[in-house]
Amino acid sequence: MLKSRLQICVLGGTGFVGTELVTRLASQGHRVRVPTRLLSRGNHLRVLPTVELIVANVHEPRVLSQLFTGMDVVINLVGVLNDSGRRGAGFQDAHVELVRKVVEAARTARVRRLLHMSALGAGPEAPSRYLRTKGEAEAIVCAAAASIDYTIFRPSVIFGPGDSLTNRFARLLRLSGGFLPLARADARFAPVYVNDVAEAFVRALRNRASIGMKYDLCGPHVLTLEEIVRQTAEVAGLPCYILRLPDFLGKLQAAFLGLLPGKPFSLDNFRSLTVDSVCRENGLAALGIEPTHMEAVLPTYLGGGSMNARRFNRFQQNA
Ligand SMILES: NC(=O)c1ccc[n+]([C@@H]2O[C@H](COP(=O)([O-])OP(=O)(O)OC[C@H]3O[C@@H](n4cnc5c(N)ncnc54)[C@H](OP(=O)(O)O)[C@@H]3O)[C@@H](O)[C@H]2O)c1
Repeated sequence: MLKSRLQICVLGGTGFVGTELVTRLASQGHRVRVPTRLLSRGNHLRVLPTVELIVANVHEPRVLSQLFTGMDVVINLVGVLNDSGRRGAGFQDAHVELVRKVVEAARTARVRRLLHMSALGAGPEAPSRYLRTKGEAEAIVCAAAASIDYTIFRPSVIFGPGDSLTNRFARLLRLSGGFLPLARADARFAPVYVNDVAEAFVRALRNRASIGMKYDLCGPHVLTLEEIVRQTAEVAGLPCYILRLPDFLGKLQAAFLGLLPGKPFSLDNFRSLTVDSVCRENGLAALGIEPTHMEAVLPTYLGGGSMNARRFNRFQQNA
């Protein structure tokens, strides 16, 4: 029988999804160990009494085994959207080699349960390195089924306070007076709320039927990239003039932005946008979670205007 208070090590626990998940796990009384490369990245988690924040190099197998010792569960959320100009080595290290080490260290430390974060569209035939390396990681996790009880999660794009989707578009629109040259404006997504994603992990922990499963996670609506930008602008009360870029200009934009520090957009990101990020079957339903509407949540962190508050209240009344 599963203990009611688990010891859980969350790799990538300081990030956007990690913050929501770690907070949720801690509030349920679980003891959560969160390694980070830089202590200040996890400052916001230090107030949580059952969270242990540790500076550690998770790419070092010996360190990883130590981190996993005494744990009931390992959760891997580590992911990078860009490889910092190292010809794919960043993706390979963070998505593939790290997962190999995580599986091995879990075996060494006798941790049986692994929840692993992938991405919708991940696979060997995917158009981008991001998605191909995520696919390779899934294969490594699945191949360890004899010794590891795994569950894999494959979300579409995730929204919520602190996301790098709506917040980034709002920032760009604010800086540019509303003018936005947009590549792959027709790319389709089913934006999923970060709380629903975190809840999927939490439910899987208690649900043995989730062992050996891959769950695609989607929100209730399919939206194009342009629609996401327009919705963001409307809620944030910003002007929005979108210039839809044809692919050759979109690639040029990606190549240029990929040279800037922090790579706000890259050719690899552009390639990821050439495939739709929508679910055939929504894993949230299988886990008993009702997906949250984006228009219900955006005003809580992007809005501010009284119109937005009214719209949010109206939505809540109708929900
Ligand atoms: N956000 C989305 O829309 C979305 C959609 C689909 C899938 N995902 C996947 O969901 C996961 C979490 O995404 P997120 O948006 O929460 O990401 P995030 O905010 O960027 O957080 C990433 C986390 O991973 C850690 N990390 C990053 N690079 C690392 C490296 N090279 N070595 C070790 N640790 C590293 C960071 O830890 P420290 O900086 O503290 O060391 C941080 O806690 C990722 O696997 C991502 O691919 C996200």
